[in-house]
Amino acid sequence: MSTMSPPRLFCFFSFIKVTKLGLWSIWLSGFLLICLSLYATQLLGSLNVEIRKPSFYYYQKGEANDKRSPSITIFSTPSIFNGSVGARQALAVRSWLGLSPDVNVVLFGNHPSLQSFAAAFGSRVLVESNIDFSFQNTPFFHSMTARAEASSSNISVLVHPETILLPDFVSTLNHVYELDHDWFLVAASRRVSFFPFDLDEAGRKWLRQDGKAIRWQKLQYFMRDTWKWDLCEGRMIMAWNTRDLPLHMGVLPPFLYGKGLHDRWLINEVYHSNFRFVFDASWTISNIYVHDANDNELTQTTSLSSTFLELGMTDWEQNGNLQLGQTYGLFSSHQVPFTDFMKLLKCNGQFMFTDKEENIVYSPRQWSSNSLWEGRIMQSRREKKIMGCITGLISAAGIMDCFSKGTNNNQLMTLNLPFGLETLLSLVADENKTVVLAVAGYSYTDMLMSWVCRLRRLTIKNFLVCALDDETYEFSILQGLPVFRHSLAPRNISFHDCHFGTKCFQKVTKTKSRLVLEILKIGYNVLLSDVDVYWFKNPIPLLQIFGPAVLAAQSDEYNVTVPTNLPRRLNSGFYFARSDDTTIAALEKVVKHAMTSDLSEQPSFYDTLCGEGGSNRVGDDRCREPGTNLTVQFLDRDLFPNGAYLGLWEEVNVQEACAKKGCYVLHNNWVSGRIRKLERQVHSGLWDYDTSSRMCLQSWHRKQ
Ligand SMILES: *[C@@H]1O[C@H](CO)[C@@H](O)[C@H](O)[C@H]1NC(C)=O
Ligand SMILES: *[C@@H]1O[C@H](CO)[C@@H](O)[C@H](O)[C@H]1NC(C)=O
Ligand SMILES: *[C@@H]1O[C@H](CO)[C@@H](O)[C@H](O)[C@H]1NC(C)=O
Ligand SMILES: *[C@@H]1O[C@H](CO)[C@@H](O)[C@H](O)[C@H]1NC(C)=O
Ligand SMILES: *[C@@H]1O[C@H](CO)[C@@H](O)[C@H](O)[C@H]1NC(C)=O
Ligand SMILES: *[C@@H]1O[C@H](CO)[C@@H](O)[C@H](O)[C@H]1NC(C)=O
Repeated sequence: MSTMSPPRLFCFFSFIKVTKLGLWSIWLSGFLLICLSLYATQLLGSLNVEIRKPSFYYYQKGEANDKRSPSITIFSTPSIFNGSVGARQALAVRSWLGLSPDVNVVLFGNHPSLQSFAAAFGSRVLVESNIDFSFQNTPFFHSMTARAEASSSNISVLVHPETILLPDFVSTLNHVYELDHDWFLVAASRRVSFFPFDLDEAGRKWLRQDGKAIRWQKLQYFMRDTWKWDLCEGRMIMAWNTRDLPLHMGVLPPFLYGKGLHDRWLINEVYHSNFRFVFDASWTISNIYVHDANDNELTQTTSLSSTFLELGMTDWEQNGNLQLGQTYGLFSSHQVPFTDFMKLLKCNGQFMFTDKEENIVYSPRQWSSNSLWEGRIMQSRREKKIMGCITGLISAAGIMDCFSKGTNNNQLMTLNLPFGLETLLSLVADENKTVVLAVAGYSYTDMLMSWVCRLRRLTIKNFLVCALDDETYEFSILQGLPVFRHSLAPRNISFHDCHFGTKCFQKVTKTKSRLVLEILKIGYNVLLSDVDVYWFKNPIPLLQIFGPAVLAAQSDEYNVTVPTNLPRRLNSGFYFARSDDTTIAALEKVVKHAMTSDLSEQPSFYDTLCGEGGSNRVGDDRCREPGTNLTVQFLDRDLFPNGAYLGLWEEVNVQEACAKKGCYVLHNNWVSGRIRKLERQVHSGLWDYDTSSRMCLQSWHRKQ
């Protein structure tokens, strides 16, 4: 830490500060992003800088008798428990649980088969789905890692769901837990083509095929034969002691889990951040996975290079990750070679660290804590024996380090349009062919993400996003949103001042009605929701009630004593339009009107459907467009309040005030300027996105 250069240190402490200030300040943390880019530049600029080691790490000489073993939580993201993959996963998880009662397991995912698998193990195996997933249900690695970092156990472990752990895992972790320095270890997983052992009923003993228990030593012989691992493309375990110190300084990009390269990225970040002592425990943590030659999926999901060569440009998720790698400079050569890490070895029953040259750098009990072995003449036979053991171990292991292979920047691809509108519609629409549509430009990406996170929390999956510009499009792809770039969208608008009343705003809103019309014509009902509409609960079931030939829209009227359908009080930022002939014909009129109007589309909606001056009004909350006979239903303002109604945004507890009214949504309009809008929403707590870490806020975030 002492060697940290000033800007990094400064940014680091600002980071701590920002997280402590609480939610309302999250949007302010643009500063942090500036720091991060500074940091990234530094990294890139220091390609050849020598790798620093922590200057001290020694073992606490605590009283041996009151030592309690640390609690260990293993985090993993299985696919569904079914077929041969399911069997391998089940064996792996059982092998973890059998190691020690101190081991607990958290499985990330939302498939019901996870729950039914976990149920058999009681509280030792929990299934959590409160991390970020892409719309195709691929979990995000950065979100998984953040969850593991927030763990309340003493040690967190990230492991592939098919990796079998053997007993030396726990003894190694218990041992390194005593290091008086925060640490982070990696251990390569060995790939075997067969593993002829099974766990006994209790999950504690390994049995041979004849049903007899096999001793640990014998298992180790078996492991020796497979004493090869591939640091470049193979799987690995990552483990660390959980304390206040973060794993790394930067922000982990939103990598999709199982699409390669995220492990290496994280390890690289941890190493370069220099907060922790990073070492390679591949020799002391025996772990394997069975490679099924029939199962191509295995190799595809573990290896970057093979994946992107084999899959070409077909997999947009892969493309997204490549794009990320490029954006964040992943493929630059500052990647640390794993062979540079200190190695944790065990010789003669003693743990010891050796460096790249195989010098013993530290061994706990035999030598006093500060004396390095380097340069000493080997005297005793015991010392010679240990040196022999070390050389033996290391030369026996066939390590392939991917550093030398390098990566070819020319192979990187840029994002292409993965899904057109029609494909996306068919992917996301619900059983009634209804979709929720949001339209967003770049200055509203934080708002967009908060809105998306809110919908995800409400388990609403039938939404899609139209990106108004390339930045929003790429950002949304990387965040796993169902997004499309539309030819109707104006392409080169600067959105920084694109708020109500501006020319830009008018252009954008006109895009919205044209898009809605197009989707209706394809055959889907559309609930258009601006991203500044906060959703308390799912309004779709309620909106379905109105039936065909009715367009249900929010009223912008705030005066409680007057009707909701007065002139120009139709809010075109939240309405439900059905895909029927009447609605389509009426919306066509709106779009036509808007094209010839100098105003935004909002007055076009009202003037076309309710008549200028409200000549088509029916009662206090409806209009009927005579040409098409479309009914406009203004939504109950208690349930769908606009931003000026009852001063809800000025309430001390907005959430509570809205709950009392029974709100479904609350529009964050009637406020001028993007910043004040953001401020109002973040300040009220109706905010669900962490801008700095680029993930949805979860209950485990709020703990801090
Ligand atoms: C593990 O963590 C708990 C709470 O954070 C702490 O009380 C306990 O002492 C830790 N155990 C060990 C062995 O350090
Ligand atoms: C489980 O696998 C079988 C074939 O191995 C397949 O027919 C079945 O649909 C799968 N079940 C689920 C829930 O995917
Ligand atoms: C689809 O419509 C039917 C009938 O209106 C309703 O009962 C059902 O809940 C709707 N489904 C969804 C997902 O909204
Ligand atoms: C960009 O916008 C300006 C006006 O806003 C317009 O005249 C120009 O044609 C646009 N360029 C492109 C490439 O769309
Ligand atoms: C609401 O409307 C009533 C009747 O038109 C009017 O007297 C009153 O001043 C209005 N209140 C507000 C706050 O505008
Ligand atoms: C228009 O719709 C209303 C109900 O929405 C219906 O009563 C009326 O008969 C319709 N008129 C025509 C001309 O279709």
